[in-house]
Amino acid sequence: MSVSKSEDRFTLVATDVDAALNAFAKDVAVGLTAYPKRLSCRYFYDCEGARLFEEICKLPEYYLTRAEREIIEARAEEIASGFSDEITLVELGSGNAVKTRLLIEAFLEQQGRLRFVPVDISQNTLEESSIGLLETYPELEVFGIAAEYHDGLARLKEMIEGPRLILWLGSNVGNFDRPDAVRFLARVGETMAEGDRFLIGTDLRKDRAVLEAAYDDTQGVTARFNQNLLARINRELGGQFDLARFQHRAVYKEAEGRVESHQVSTCAQTVVIEDLDMEVVFAEGETIHTENSYKYSIAEIDALAEGAGLEVERRWFDSERRFGLNMLKRNHG
Ligand code: AVJ
Repeated sequence: MSVSKSEDRFTLVATDVDAALNAFAKDVAVGLTAYPKRLSCRYFYDCEGARLFEEICKLPEYYLTRAEREIIEARAEEIASGFSDEITLVELGSGNAVKTRLLIEAFLEQQGRLRFVPVDISQNTLEESSIGLLETYPELEVFGIAAEYHDGLARLKEMIEGPRLILWLGSNVGNFDRPDAVRFLARVGETMAEGDRFLIGTDLRKDRAVLEAAYDDTQGVTARFNQNLLARINRELGGQFDLARFQHRAVYKEAEGRVESHQVSTCAQTVVIEDLDMEVVFAEGETIHTENSYKYSIAEIDALAEGAGLEVERRWFDSERRFGLNMLKRNHG
């Protein structure tokens, strides 16, 4: 890690970009040699992917962002007033931080100034959103960490003093398998002191039709978002994927409580990836599994918290009960 930028109210720490690129090459090689084939959704978010995700958040079918914003709009003041001491606001996977503004405003109102620590894998997104925030709020100080969660958490523990409110919004937990989610929450929990809180947004289990539409919209934005992963292999690793020969598919697996996203090969084909010295053979109908988006019941949220040594102190829902916002604290039982 190296400090790449430091100004008056803005500090940015970045992780080693080369290492991240090598990881992409290696993960692609491993994932496309496996059966069934898979690619990790963490690689969706290059510049183009981050842009497409912003578009997804505005789609009529993708209710998650709006539902969560509705809750935060209604509850930001209530959330802020739950803290008596001055807090530092931390956000994991902050993205463009639109919903976060509502919380930032509520805390600025209450404590007059605020230190905000966004942790995001996209350095571009981080810089742009930080500059936007600093321009809007003169009493805000931003300490950005451009890193994956793992490195980001390590940094947090070293550098940021409590009490802290850690945000993990947008159902980002949904990309983790359930046991991994428990482990991740436990890791966050280890960095938490008594007065710290962890606010986590969870998409709720619901009808298949609503879920499948949210991950396969009629305008095809989500399909392009998914296919950007193949395009990225073409751009960065000398891949020769013909995107017209792959089709996006989203399926809700109710037993697992997850929406699976796949790229389906529409014909038998062999795809060359030059930089990896690979030829990837696809049968017609064979899929690459690109993402899991887990959905939670209330009982599953409780189990998630409890398994991580945390407990749900309060929770809020949107008016249609599609999405949950959960305030967690350390379980001292
Ligand atoms: C950012 C992981 C919460 O799974 O809903 C949106 C990503 N994928 N549309 C999700 C996503 C397809 C999103 N998360």
